[in-house]
Parts: sequence; structure tokens; C-alpha cells
Amino acid sequence: MITLGIETSCDETSVALVQGGRKILSNIVYSSLLEHRPYGGVIPEIASRSHLETVLPCLQEALKKANRTMGDIDLVAVTQGPGLLGSLLVGITAAKTLSLALGKPLVGVDHVMAHLYSGFLMEQKLAFPLLGLVVSGGHTMLVSMESARRYQVLGTTLDDAAGEAFDKVAKILGLGYPGGPEIDRLAKGQDAKRFFFTRPYLSHESLDFSFSGIKTAVFYTVQRNFSQTNAGLPGAGNKKMTLKDKKAIAAGFQEAVCEVLVKKSLKAAKIHAAKTLVVGGGVSANSRLKQLFSTASKKEGVRVIFPSLALSQDNAAMIAALGTALYREGRRDSLDMEAYPEFIKS
Ligand code: KG4
Ligand code: ZN
Repeated sequence: MITLGIETSCDETSVALVQGGRKILSNIVYSSLLEHRPYGGVIPEIASRSHLETVLPCLQEALKKANRTMGDIDLVAVTQGPGLLGSLLVGITAAKTLSLALGKPLVGVDHVMAHLYSGFLMEQKLAFPLLGLVVSGGHTMLVSMESARRYQVLGTTLDDAAGEAFDKVAKILGLGYPGGPEIDRLAKGQDAKRFFFTRPYLSHESLDFSFSGIKTAVFYTVQRNFSQTNAGLPGAGNKKMTLKDKKAIAAGFQEAVCEVLVKKSLKAAKIHAAKTLVVGGGVSANSRLKQLFSTASKKEGVRVIFPSLALSQDNAAMIAALGTALYREGRRDSLDMEAYPEFIKS
């Protein structure tokens, strides 16, 4: 079975062909990131226009790369939400049109859950039950997964998502957008203890997360220690913030966030007797997160599956993978299918 996946929830336009829900035949990604960079975040109108211009070229490229034609497509899977409404509608309209024209079934897919299906593309033999950790720009979630349709959200962020915290802290430090990769790069080999940040919500018994306080703590650390914050506000300190200082703050912040993610995930694994954890979403590209998981998970006897760098970012292969699994479990959508901007707890 060949599934066509379409992803247009944010600033990436992606089209993929996936065989049997596991084997990537092609996974084309076009990002409009450079157009958003001057504004320090994604501008919805620019993103929608870019999807309109690139979704068909991406489809053509995906077919060409996979050496397949439209006639080979058995199923159309598309991101239904969450995401930017205008962006989602471009992908959904393309998917509905293709489904109608080809006479093939249509399945709407949740983008947040789809991040966890990168694991199925990494490991051909991966099987349920699984524990999932989504760490993206918009969501931080621990999920117990019994099947594609049966899953339970065990914990979620009460405020900022992990990626959002990385992006906001990067802004405070005067780094570029998106901030996660910048902080990851700057923090490498730095002393993470010079600036210590309290591990947010770690001792709380629930499996929820909270990352907005740590962002505020970084802001006040900068203001207290240095003469000027990036926001142009006068600080209480009399020193100028050097690159060395920025690196140390980045390392301290990253260590705190990653430690919470690792400890909470392993706590969830213990409570729910999970043996395998799949990690997905943009922040799963973080090198320190991988290191910390690698050491801690061995001790706890939990296998942790990280996506490749390409699959950690928004892509349509993961949409096709989840779409195929949902289809096999009986999911079908009609041409009335609507976009939803927020995550819907199952
Ligand atoms: O999953 P994603 O591509 O988009 C959403 O679905 O939200 O995640 C984007 C997020 C951004 O906040 C970005 O800063 C973060 O992932 N990110 C990282 C790294 N690479 C991307 N955060 C930390 N370390 C990284 N290496
Ligand atoms: Zn995403």
C-alpha cells in the first residue's frame, strides 16, 4: 500500500510517499523559514502563500523521487491539525482534491501524534504498546500508546512548550530564530553549572510540564548580571554580556529543560511499565537531550528511539505513517473534513 502524505501545518510544505506505513519512498520538504526569519517568528499569511506556491511542485518532486505516478497512490493522508488555519487549509484542500480525482480514501492526521510515528520509520519492527514523548515548538506531551487510535495523554505542558522556551530564551540572548538549534550549538562543551536554573515542575507528582518560569528566570539572570538585556532594557549589572556568558546561560538553561524531560519520561515509563519510548518533534534533534536519555535510559532498562534529524523536523513521511496506521484501524474521512487549529485530546 502506498500512502501519499501531505503536511502544511506551519512553515514547512512537505509531500511524501510511504510504502506499508514504514518505508519512505520519498519525503520532500520545502521550508519558508528564511522568509519568516526577519520577523523572529512564523507569519501566518507568508506561510499560507508559500504552501500554495510549493505544494504542487513538492508533489511532483515526491512522485519523481519515488519513481511512481499518481496511479500508484492507494491512500491520501493529510495533517488536519493542530497548526495555522490558513496553512492547514492549503494541505487539506490539496488532499481532498487528490482523493476525489484519484478515487482513493482520505485520512486526516493529528500533527502532534504524527511526530511519534517517525519512530515507525526509524525501526521497521517497532510495535505497540509504546510510550511517546513529543517535544515540539507548540507541544510537550507524554502519551501512552496502545494503537494508532487508542492512546492516552499522560502529561502535557501547562504553559510554554519545550521548543517555545528554547525560542524565547534564544531571543533574550539575542540569538536567531529558531532558537533551539542555536542554543544547542552554543551550549556544546560549556559549563552548565555556572548559571543554575531550578528544574521546573520536576518534583511535582504529576506528569505535566511547565517551562514558562525558566524563561523568566533566564530573563532576570541576564538583567541582574549584565548591563543591558537584549530587549534593550537596562540591567542591574555593570558588565556587558559576552559570547562566553551567552554560551554558559544557554548551557544552564538547556541542562534544566533536558533533565526535566528525561526524568519525567522515565518516571512515566516506570509508572506505566513501558519498555520502549519514542521521542519526536523538533526538540528531539537536541544533542544534550539525546546524551542524557542515552545514559539514564540504560540504567532504567528503557529503550529510547530518536528520529533522524530529517524526521525530527516537520515532514510528510510521518503524516503518511500515522495515516496508514489509522486507515488500517478503520479510520476514513469525508470531503467535509475540517481543519482544527488546536490539539484535540482523544
Ligand atoms: O516539531 P517542530 O518542527 O514544529 C512544531 O510542530 O512545533 O519543532 C520546532 C521547534 C522549535 O521551537 C525549534 O527551536 C526546536 O523545535 N528545535 C530545537 C532543536 N532543533 C529544533 N530545540 C532544541 N534543540 C535543537 N537542536
Ligand atoms: Zn511539528
